[in-house]
Amino acid sequence: MNELSVPRPNDLDAYFMPFSDNKYFKSHPRLLARAEGMSYFTPEGKEVLDGTAGLWCSNAGHGRREIVEAIQKQAAILDFAPTFQLGHPLAFEAAARVADLTPKGMDRVFFTNSGSESDDTALKIALAYQKARGQAQRVRLIGRERGYHGVGFGGMSVGGIGGNRKQFGTQLPYVDHLPSTHLPAQNAFVKGQPAHGAHLADELERLVNLHGDTIAAVMVEPVAGSTGVLVPPVGYLERLRELCTKHGILLIFDEVITGFGRIGNHFGSERLGVIPDMITMAKGLTNAAVPMGAVAVSDEIYDTIVNGVAGGIEFFHGYTYSGHPLAAAAAIATIDIHVREDLPGRAKAMEPYWEEATHSLKSSPNVIDIRNFGLIAGIELQPREGKPGDRAMQVFRRCFDDGLLVRVTGDIIALSPPLIIEKSHVDRIFSTLADAIHKEAA
Ligand SMILES: Cc1ncc(COP(=O)(O)O)c(C=O)c1O
Repeated sequence: MNELSVPRPNDLDAYFMPFSDNKYFKSHPRLLARAEGMSYFTPEGKEVLDGTAGLWCSNAGHGRREIVEAIQKQAAILDFAPTFQLGHPLAFEAAARVADLTPKGMDRVFFTNSGSESDDTALKIALAYQKARGQAQRVRLIGRERGYHGVGFGGMSVGGIGGNRKQFGTQLPYVDHLPSTHLPAQNAFVKGQPAHGAHLADELERLVNLHGDTIAAVMVEPVAGSTGVLVPPVGYLERLRELCTKHGILLIFDEVITGFGRIGNHFGSERLGVIPDMITMAKGLTNAAVPMGAVAVSDEIYDTIVNGVAGGIEFFHGYTYSGHPLAAAAAIATIDIHVREDLPGRAKAMEPYWEEATHSLKSSPNVIDIRNFGLIAGIELQPREGKPGDRAMQVFRRCFDDGLLVRVTGDIIALSPPLIIEKSHVDRIFSTLADAIHKEAA
C-alpha cells in the first residue's frame, strides 16, 4: 500500500482521547495508520510490532482478508436491522457459533458492543435471574480488588481499581469486594499459576456471613489483565465456584481478554477447569474489526428469566446495535479462522517458548516480578522514587520508537500478542523490551 494514501491528521485538537494523557499525546503524537499480520505501521510507514494484539483483541492478527470481506459483503446486503422484536439471520448464526465454543450448557448468547456493556449486561442478567427465581432480596454484587470490568457504572463499581473510581463520586450501591489474589511476597517470579492464595476465595464466606442471602453474583476475571496480569492461584477459582454454588450465588467470569484462545482454550474457564454461570466477552470475538461484545449464559438462567413471565418482553435491556449485522458477520468470519487455524492450539504450543522468553527478563534492572499464563505476560518494574508509573511509561515510549508496541499499567508492562505469533516475533519483542528496560535503569 502506498503510505501517502494513508490519511494524515493535521489537527489533533478535537479528539477527546480515552484513557490518555491528552496534553502529552497532542504534543508528542504517536499514530498508527495501518496494520497487517503481526504489525502496525505509522503514517511514515515505520513498522511497529504488535506485542499487545491492539488492546488484547486482534488475536488472529491484523487485516485478515476473510474478516474484511465478510464485513464488506454484509454492509452491501444489510447495513442495519433492529433486533428488538425483530431479527436478522446473521445475529442468530453468530450466537450459535459463539455457543459452539462456550462450555456445555451455556448456550444462550446476548449481544452487546463492548466489554463494558457485556459486564453491565451480565450484572443485570444476574439480578433479573435472582428475581425470577423468587430471590429478589439478592441485589448485592461482589467484585474483587484490582478487577477490571470496564467503565459503565456497574463494571466500574464492581471493578476494583481505585483510580478508575475516584473522579466519579457515585457508585452502584450494594457492592462489595473480595481481596486481590496478588501475593508478591510468596509468588514473585512464579511461572504460570502461583501456588499460594487459594484461601483468598474463602473471603466470600466472610461476605456471606456479613450480607446473608442478599448476594446475587460474584464477578471476576479468570486472569486479571488490565491491573497488571494477575494469574489465579492454584485452587482459587475452584474454591470460588464451590462457595458460589453452596450459597446460591451466580459466578460470572469476565473473559473479555481470556476468551477466544488467549490462554490456550476457547475460553479461560476451559483451561482452568472451572465452569461459571455466565461468561462475558468482547475483543477477540470479532478480532476487534467491528465492535462487539456478548454474554453467554447458562440455559438455566435463560429459561428462568424467559419462562418467568407469561408473555411480553422478558428482559428489559438491550442496545440498538446488539447483534449488528456487520459485527455479526465479523464474528462469524473470526470464529471460522479461530477454529480452522486452531488459534487456541497455537497459543498453547507457543506458551513454553513465550514463558521462557518472558522470564529471561528476570536479570534486567529493576524487574521485581514476572507473571505469565497462556500468551500473556506481566513484567513489573520498581517504581521511580516519587514518580509511580514513570519508568514503565518511558519503557513504553522507547519501545514504540524502537518498533514495538507494549502496554503499561502503573509500573507493569503487559504483553498479549496476536495468537499467530512466531518464535522470531517473540525474540524481537523481548530483545527490544530488554533493551528499553536497560536504558531506563537509572
Ligand atoms: C477484563 C475486561 N473486562 C472489560 C473490559 C472493558 O472492555 P471495553 O473496553 O470493550 O468496554 C476490558 C477491557 O480491557 C477487560 O480487560
